[in-house]
Amino acid sequence: MSSYVTRKTPGDTSWFVHDRFGMFIHFGLYSLPGRHEWVKCNERMTDEKYDKYFEYFDPDMLDMKEWARQAKAAGMKYAVITTKHHEGFCLFDTKYTDYKSTNTKYGRDIISDFVEAFRAEGIHIGFYYSLLDWHHPDFTIDKLHPQRGDSNIAEQNAGRNMKNYTKYMRDQLTELLTNYGKIEILWLDFCYDTTPQDSVAGKGAEDWEAEELIKTVRSLQPDIIINNRSGIDQDLWTPEQCQPTSWIKHEETGELLIWEACHTFSGSWGYHRDESKWKTPKILLELLVNTVAYGGNLIMNVGPTARGNFDHRAENALKVYADWMKYNNKSIYGCTMAEPGISTQNGCQLTQSTDGKRLYIFLLDYPFVTVSVDGIADKVDYAHFLHDGSEIPFRNSNDKSKPNAVFFTIPEVAPNSVIPVIEVFLK
Ligand code: GLC
Repeated sequence: MSSYVTRKTPGDTSWFVHDRFGMFIHFGLYSLPGRHEWVKCNERMTDEKYDKYFEYFDPDMLDMKEWARQAKAAGMKYAVITTKHHEGFCLFDTKYTDYKSTNTKYGRDIISDFVEAFRAEGIHIGFYYSLLDWHHPDFTIDKLHPQRGDSNIAEQNAGRNMKNYTKYMRDQLTELLTNYGKIEILWLDFCYDTTPQDSVAGKGAEDWEAEELIKTVRSLQPDIIINNRSGIDQDLWTPEQCQPTSWIKHEETGELLIWEACHTFSGSWGYHRDESKWKTPKILLELLVNTVAYGGNLIMNVGPTARGNFDHRAENALKVYADWMKYNNKSIYGCTMAEPGISTQNGCQLTQSTDGKRLYIFLLDYPFVTVSVDGIADKVDYAHFLHDGSEIPFRNSNDKSKPNAVFFTIPEVAPNSVIPVIEVFLK
């Protein structure tokens, strides 16, 4: 059994740490300009200007079953969709605003379609909900607001009441957590309070009335996994677009945390037509391997286009996961960081099944003829490649500087896999 014990969580994270890999979906009006989901803020657009996208929102090619099929093929076991992003537009049929997908040309409750299609594929359901809202009339103008450059901010803010807005959030979350069955993840986003008490500077837990908000959520879905971005520690820590190189620990207590790295295919979360930083197949797979190797989950994002389909570059990236996971998913599901004392050479990475019986060696930079793993002398029963089940011979070390090592002999010609994996059965 794995000897790693993580900080106790209020929600049920047992399925989550087994499943390891999820799909993030950022979809909204920003898919139309196609130049970042922050476009309203970045370009300081007025509501009036941004309304054009509401007027023309009509993702006529949206096939939710196809999204779910691609997620499943990629090996993704859960999916988290933006029910509302910072722009304030809601993808669900809410009673509390007219600014919703059911009032567009498209006319559908996209969240309801999502829940139905993804659930039918056996994928766990998660909702992203933005704490920021650049459309709500009571959300005060702050340093990230599109209208932050206006000359009369104080005057405008005097007419805005955050109390109404926090109630609006609780009401909407009540809808989301009541009308769509069991929801397993709530992804709140985010705090940016550099100077507490100064609402122009930023907003944090107090502005969101986060305690009250979380109480509401837990009363409706007690087992739900909630991330830490409302400013109150809950179940999940979410490092963004970076690759941790050790298990993430609690800043004060030092406890090991449940964590999930979130990444994009090309930089922005919403569809971005002109972005050129698309990740290579190797990087896409390394993110998954390295994350599980340090006890974390990976959620990879897709930003569907304004037509509602996945862009060909996103489809190619999902295909990279699909092709690799088809053969290698045993090294990801139910796996975690290798036991303390077990290590491998540079250019390789390890995971281990939580029952301790299987060890996986990832050949990130294909080594020459041998691979060594330290800390498992006399413990190996059998080893083979995962992609074809072909035997990998091994021997205990006769190197005095590495008495506990085992050497595995691999073919000189690298197999046709972006990252070949050796499965090692331990005695
Ligand atoms: C950020 C961004 C946002 C994105 C999110 C995902 O906080 O504001 O656009 O939704 O991260 O992690």
